[in-house]
Amino acid sequence: MNRLLMLLLVAVGALIGNGATADAYQVFKNEASPENAFRYLHQVATHPRCANCHGQEIDGVHRPTVGDDRRRHPMNISAANNLQLMFANFQFQPVPKSDKPVNCRSCHQTKNGSAPGMPPGAANNLMPGFVWHMPPATMVVPVGIEPHELCENWLNPAKNSFLAFRGSRNDMKTFKKEFVHHVHDDPLIRWAWQPGPGRSSAPGTHKDFVMAMKIWIQGGAPCPD
Ligand code: HEC
Ligand code: HEC
Repeated sequence: MNRLLMLLLVAVGALIGNGATADAYQVFKNEASPENAFRYLHQVATHPRCANCHGQEIDGVHRPTVGDDRRRHPMNISAANNLQLMFANFQFQPVPKSDKPVNCRSCHQTKNGSAPGMPPGAANNLMPGFVWHMPPATMVVPVGIEPHELCENWLNPAKNSFLAFRGSRNDMKTFKKEFVHHVHDDPLIRWAWQPGPGRSSAPGTHKDFVMAMKIWIQGGAPCPD
């Protein structure tokens, strides 16, 4: 009986210690297990700097959000204003996805605006032509998405796009190559740690984020329960 109580107390303690309120980054820094690595990946991916661009469904429409409170993007911007990037001549080429007169690139340039409230921007030579746009609706990051749900989405070829090239648990080698390349090189991912004036950065560092991705995949990409 006493032992059971002890176990219970320990379990509750662990929940408080490692639960949603704990800093997953610090937990990962203390013990770099694949499970802790994924919890840090989840902490980053659900941070507004990442999640705002992945967007969420608001009134049935896939929209980017802005600010740390993830409010609706001003000016009624939605996925209908998005661009699609095609790969041609060794460079990504933006193609408007609809006939809307404005798209992401009407405002979002290759660099951050110089003052708070101005549109952020990003681009680099690691992925030439890969500029500001939002992913398909299968990659939405709704407020409060649980670690296991995000994890299953990342591993689901039907959701993570171009999966034939990206692989999945059935093809860990391709999966690792694609995912690690993506998080290392992608200027939009790097931007989350250099978000420009007036915006908080994603937790931890880009370097630790890439390391966590490697550790998680090397450990078999386990999803939390
Ligand atoms: C400015 C927009 C933008 C930002 C900011 C952004 N992403 Fe993305 N993300 C995309 C786009 C677009 C794709 C789809 C690319 C493709 O299919 O080739 C994508 C795809 C992904 C994928 C692939 C699989 C999936 O289901 O989501 C992951 C993982 C990802 N992003 C994580 C992140 C993380 C983590 C951050 C922050 C560190 C971040 N993204 C910030 C636009 C963004
Ligand atoms: C008419 C201009 C305009 C267009 C078009 C536009 N944006 Fe924005 N966007 C802005 C401005 C201005 C901000 C800064 C708002 C702020 O910080 O309060 C912004 C901020 C953002 C942010 C927020 C960054 C953050 O974390 O706070 C994201 C993400 C974003 N836009 C994505 C997009 C996407 C994706 C598209 C295309 C589908 C797009 N925007 C089209 C003007 C625009």
